[in-house]
Amino acid sequence: MGALPAIRYNHLMNYVHKDTCRICKGRDLTRILSLGNHPPVDNFTDVEHLKNEKRYPLNVYFCGTCNLVQLLDVVSEEELFHGEYAYFSSASKPLVEHFRSYADDLAREQLKDDDLVVDIGSNDGILLQHLAHRYRVLGIEPSANVAEAARKKGVETLDGFFTVDMAKKMVEKYGKAKVVAANNVFAHIDDLDEIVQGVKELLSEDGVFVSESHYLLDLIERREFDTVYHEHLCYYSVKPLQHLFKRFGMEVFDVGRVDVHGGSIRVYVRLASGKPLKNSVRVLCALEEKAGLYTLERFSGFQKDVEVIRDKLVSLIRGFRKEGKIVTAYGAPAKGNTLLNFCGFTPDDLKYVTDTTPHKIGLLTPGSHIPVVSPDILKSETPDYILLLAWNYRNFILEKEKELRSRGAKFIIPIPEVEIV
Ligand code: TYD
Repeated sequence: MGALPAIRYNHLMNYVHKDTCRICKGRDLTRILSLGNHPPVDNFTDVEHLKNEKRYPLNVYFCGTCNLVQLLDVVSEEELFHGEYAYFSSASKPLVEHFRSYADDLAREQLKDDDLVVDIGSNDGILLQHLAHRYRVLGIEPSANVAEAARKKGVETLDGFFTVDMAKKMVEKYGKAKVVAANNVFAHIDDLDEIVQGVKELLSEDGVFVSESHYLLDLIERREFDTVYHEHLCYYSVKPLQHLFKRFGMEVFDVGRVDVHGGSIRVYVRLASGKPLKNSVRVLCALEEKAGLYTLERFSGFQKDVEVIRDKLVSLIRGFRKEGKIVTAYGAPAKGNTLLNFCGFTPDDLKYVTDTTPHKIGLLTPGSHIPVVSPDILKSETPDYILLLAWNYRNFILEKEKELRSRGAKFIIPIPEVEIV
């Protein structure tokens, strides 16, 4: 472990700027992307609360020591997740399908009857619902309204944030876990040491920690800059993760690329065993090395690439508006809000955004204040152009909206490059 202590997170402040790397505690940190000041992306708002909206710096850094790409401006959990959290994983059908097959993988490769599976950040039970009939399952979810949705599906769910203390109490009550999962949350964690220590407490000797996160290689190669937001503190590649787990006597023994959220990485971790690692680890590390992910130079053109996308989108959409065209947006994902705010879009540019999540409908997008409405509106209205903010579901949505497209609506795809279809 490095000699420098991590800055402890101060819960009394809304935000803190760290000056050490989250994994190796080094200070060789260089800013590789600046997106300006943004409100938290899941804080959908309403007219009454507009004056309470706060913005925080959104900058990405590269660690020259362990090569972790990360945010150093940490917004408090209270500010990020206050009130009703609007993100329900099961709102997106393709994601439900993904977690069904993920659960099958775990059942086939890792689990025997009566094993305990714990999911950290279990959301509305999207993974555990598929395992609950056969194994003992336990979710951990800090957002009360989301945890309640999981319980309604029969997934036992503890409230709160996962800590070493919680892990110890869980072991006393439920015993050790064969699988501990953490999907699309491991990148959200500021104090990684606490979580990894807690996972180690909870896992049985032959247990496996499995985690999916958005993958840095996809982010860089496909210019997915909008996946940068305050909740995502880390943008992982394999090498920094190996460094992290090694510090705790653990090892990444298998990895895979997964086609969700614009490209994710799944890592399997166990207690260091001396057994051979799966070939996938060597193969992916070699690919990352070849792609330059372990060098600062690789990131030198990223800011420019991102600004090219922004400038194209702005001139296209404002151009259409000048011609009197109706332009709207499709999907109000968290990442959509980074894109909307980075482009400086307002309701003058985009009339409304449609989203299937009941909790978002009727609210305004954070920062850009565009009304979120039910997709039903598209049954009676045909916008000229629709900005696809949920571009990670591109094929699914273009297919689903065939009829709308046949009425003349065109989709503007922002990522990996601006395209009209
Ligand atoms: P998602 O891409 O899962 O995530 P993130 O918030 O992490 O960026 O979010 C997709 C959003 O798009 C979600 O709010 C639901 C919405 N959506 C639709 O409105 N219609 C659709 O057909 C799909 C697939 C998603």
